[in-house]
Amino acid sequence: MTQVKPDTAANTMWGGRFATGPDAIMTAINASIGFDKRLYAQDIAGSRAHAAMLAATGILSASDAEAIREGLLTVLSEIESGQFAFRADLEDIHLNVESRLTELVGEAGKRLHTARSRNDQVAVDFRLWVRDQCDAAMSGLTTLMRAFLAQAEAGADWVMPGFTHLQTAQPVTWGHHMMAYVEMFARDRGRFEDARRRMNECPLGAAALAGTGFPIDRHMTARALGFDRPTANSLDSVADRDFALEFLGAASICAMHLSRFAEELVIWSSAQFRFVRLSDKWTTGSSIMPQKKNPDAAELLRAKIGRILGATFALFTVMKGLPLTYSKDMQEDKEQVFDAADTLMLALAAMTGMVADMTANRDALRAAAASGFSTATDLADWLVRSLGLPFRTAHHVTGSLVALAEAKGCDLPDLTLAEMQSAHPGISEEVFSVLGVENSVRSRQSYGGTAPDQVRSQIARWKAALG
Ligand code: ARG
Repeated sequence: MTQVKPDTAANTMWGGRFATGPDAIMTAINASIGFDKRLYAQDIAGSRAHAAMLAATGILSASDAEAIREGLLTVLSEIESGQFAFRADLEDIHLNVESRLTELVGEAGKRLHTARSRNDQVAVDFRLWVRDQCDAAMSGLTTLMRAFLAQAEAGADWVMPGFTHLQTAQPVTWGHHMMAYVEMFARDRGRFEDARRRMNECPLGAAALAGTGFPIDRHMTARALGFDRPTANSLDSVADRDFALEFLGAASICAMHLSRFAEELVIWSSAQFRFVRLSDKWTTGSSIMPQKKNPDAAELLRAKIGRILGATFALFTVMKGLPLTYSKDMQEDKEQVFDAADTLMLALAAMTGMVADMTANRDALRAAAASGFSTATDLADWLVRSLGLPFRTAHHVTGSLVALAEAKGCDLPDLTLAEMQSAHPGISEEVFSVLGVENSVRSRQSYGGTAPDQVRSQIARWKAALG
């Protein structure tokens, strides 16, 4: 058997008990620096808070703490200016930063890791990063909600068909349809807000898993990093990735909402529907068919949920069955969350742009709303209200009139009074007033209904809420 030669000497950070360094392939599978360098700012912030606390509690001298503080600022500027040489043999961002710090400030740098482990370090870094992403998602969603609100306001009383089973159901208003998405994205925002609140506890100080014998002040580091409090159980602190899963869960539901509107845009912008015109900024042409204007952004938004949901599945699969506490499996958490977060932010921005720039075709919406017997329910309701028929009977009478209109190739308002009376002799001229789509939507005054007054009051409520 051939022995693969280690390509490096034992690791400088933890190599005390190792005679040789790792195999090159071990370095490749083990190192996370290729992706976790994205956590550099959080890692340095965590180390700064830790060093300041070590000094305040007398664990570290004031001069060492000052040397560490200045050294960490130098590392930060080296990374931000692209001068920092990341090393795979140093595995991850934590060891890369600490090693460079020690090069810069000597012995003091070697004291930074007192009362700390990479286990609580990565837990705090990643939490800080995910917390920022929750904030970004919330603000992206607020902007998106504003774009839907503007659309709703412009067409609060424009009539369009409402669908079930993608079959014409009842007339609704454009404003009402837009506001449905405001509700959906508001719930999404609430989910990120909840997740953020729950994750806002600081795991730093849990050390490897058991806490530490040093007299640290976990409340101080928690405060310095903007957390509400320290986490209460050191084992849970290093083993937990719920915060990432909750972020992914909220992101998945949000991506699902984005995909639903994206699908509506694909349908609505087609030549068969012509409900909306997408701006040139969010569409592409075809290299062969000159007439084409493809809704590529909408199609991509429809698809992006695949990546985000995939990341969610991947992280659940990594975490399931892991014994407490930290296992290296958990290093596989980051790339999934990074990609999902990047995808979500891009998707939110693209949807916001597309919604802001799209133009609803009021006439096409109105024409579609008036076809497909969309006011059949209004007719049945009229039979109940005016003639006192039981709803089931009214439903049957209306059904026969729909069949008659279908056979004649016309819509309900085009039937004559005599034809109406053939289905029920009590029907009078008054029935025609409920067959118009405008009257239909205006009548739906129940709270949350599609009547323009209702829609306008929801718009006003949301405008006040969004400020
Ligand atoms: N790179 C590691 C990760 O992302 C950091 C924690 C390593 N801890 C350890 N005990 N090896 O999970």
